[in-house]
Amino acid sequence: MEVCVVGTGYVGLVTGTCLAYLGRSVVCVDIDERKIQMLREGKSPIYEPGLDQLITTGIQRGHLRFSTDLASAVKESEIIFIAVGTPPMASGKADLSYVKAVAQQVGRSLDCERRRVIVNKSTVPIGSGNWVEMLVKDGLQENPAYRERLAKMAAGQSTGQAIGYAESQTTVSRRLNGIKPEDVFLVASNPEFLREGSAITDTFYPDRIVIGAADPYAAERLRALYEPIVEQTFVPPVSAPRQAGFTAVPVVTTDLASAEMIKYAANAFLATKISFANEIANICERVGADIQEVVRGFGLDSRIGPKFLNAGVGWGGSCFGKDVSAIIDIANEYNYEPELLRSTVSVNKRQRHVPVLKLQEVLKIIKGKTIGLLGLAFKPETDDIRDAPALEIARELLEMGARVKAYDPIANDVCARQYPDLKIEYAANAVDLAEDCDAVVIVTEWDEFRYLDLQKVGDVMHAKVLIDGRNVLDPEAVEAAGFKYRGIGR
Ligand SMILES: NC(=O)c1ccc[n+]([C@@H]2O[C@H](COP(=O)([O-])OP(=O)(O)OC[C@H]3O[C@@H](n4cnc5c(N)ncnc54)[C@H](O)[C@@H]3O)[C@@H](O)[C@H]2O)c1
Repeated sequence: MEVCVVGTGYVGLVTGTCLAYLGRSVVCVDIDERKIQMLREGKSPIYEPGLDQLITTGIQRGHLRFSTDLASAVKESEIIFIAVGTPPMASGKADLSYVKAVAQQVGRSLDCERRRVIVNKSTVPIGSGNWVEMLVKDGLQENPAYRERLAKMAAGQSTGQAIGYAESQTTVSRRLNGIKPEDVFLVASNPEFLREGSAITDTFYPDRIVIGAADPYAAERLRALYEPIVEQTFVPPVSAPRQAGFTAVPVVTTDLASAEMIKYAANAFLATKISFANEIANICERVGADIQEVVRGFGLDSRIGPKFLNAGVGWGGSCFGKDVSAIIDIANEYNYEPELLRSTVSVNKRQRHVPVLKLQEVLKIIKGKTIGLLGLAFKPETDDIRDAPALEIARELLEMGARVKAYDPIANDVCARQYPDLKIEYAANAVDLAEDCDAVVIVTEWDEFRYLDLQKVGDVMHAKVLIDGRNVLDPEAVEAAGFKYRGIGR
């Protein structure tokens, strides 16, 4: 099965690489020539555990290629994934300009030699499947191959010849009346649920695969593409072993709009769960309860579950903020005010400010103080700093007149490159960061911060203050090492 994946970001690159591992013939396309060059050399432009190795394996086996030539990639492929970014605009709406550009170009590039399935993997507003279909059709009308085929078809009709396809009689007789766009392509939705940092494991062993399609043929082709994952028949890569007892993946086949909504509902629910935990944490602080104990107590309820209930400095990343804003915008478009979702966002916005309030409480004066941030990435095991709480905390402290240092095991360079104007001083490790600091704030729960050498860190600090923005340390141990400790909700 030949597959084209357009967009080699976190989603497209992981999807393409994993499908190639399963033996699919995959070409990954991007407009960013630098990325494509790196990828051809077997280097991943993003940090994702295990990805470099799988890319190299895919290239060596001849199953994975990288290209900037979308038109050729489309012609070679049966399944075409659109996996470009859908970043938020100032209004909260998803910016669909990248999806639009790709859909039109795919339409202009299709030939009529076989029926393609065009798959929206990007997270897109409800109705985008129909919109992409319209855009591809528009592109198709400008497509010389399609026009030529229509002309031949007209000629063939007069002699009674059917051309091209060996398909059912019904299809052939429809062709005799003129080739239709749906004979050339169908659109499906296949939202992605992978998590950065465990993207490969999530792709090989997902909780479910969601397929939205109006036409059963499109759903069937996607189901066939994912067969080795659905049935778990592949040999696991070394970097992503299969858990004992994991034998099959449920496939949810539904209509286009429901598939699109499933993605938004999932992200909105997860963001709400975290905001809920933070709301309870803030109340815990005031009444003298400990959020860690409280979450353990109510998270054990099987109707609730313990995941995504970690109190901290709030959620971030490229998806939650933009997807919750987008679903709010969609609801408003349909004259509905989603109050719960608005609160999810406002609780999170307020939560990012909590570490600064705690610094003020302990240090009183922030101006002229040196604050060290442990972690920049929005979560551990990724270099992604999109909408990371650390950026907002750093900006706020800088505006208040503090000197801000930061250390992230992976994301220092990405942050320096993407935000050259942000006056952060980057440190090489946690002890280097702590030097001369009046306080250190744990912003990202990287494992190495769970095992900080408190003695070494404390020895080089100007004042021993530790704000644990992710509740990863034992307050008693930190205080025993001579620090003033403040967690979240404890
Ligand atoms: N990152 C995640 O964890 C995650 C998880 C699930 C779903 N999603 C969704 O998947 C989509 C992609 O997210 P991402 O994080 O991989 O994005 P990204 O920004 O990391 O990557 C997008 C890529 O698309 C490329 N691109 C843009 N226009 C192009 C064009 N015309 N032709 C070819 N390539 C083009 C860009 O150069 C970039 O490499 C988004 O809609 C996102 O919401 C992301």
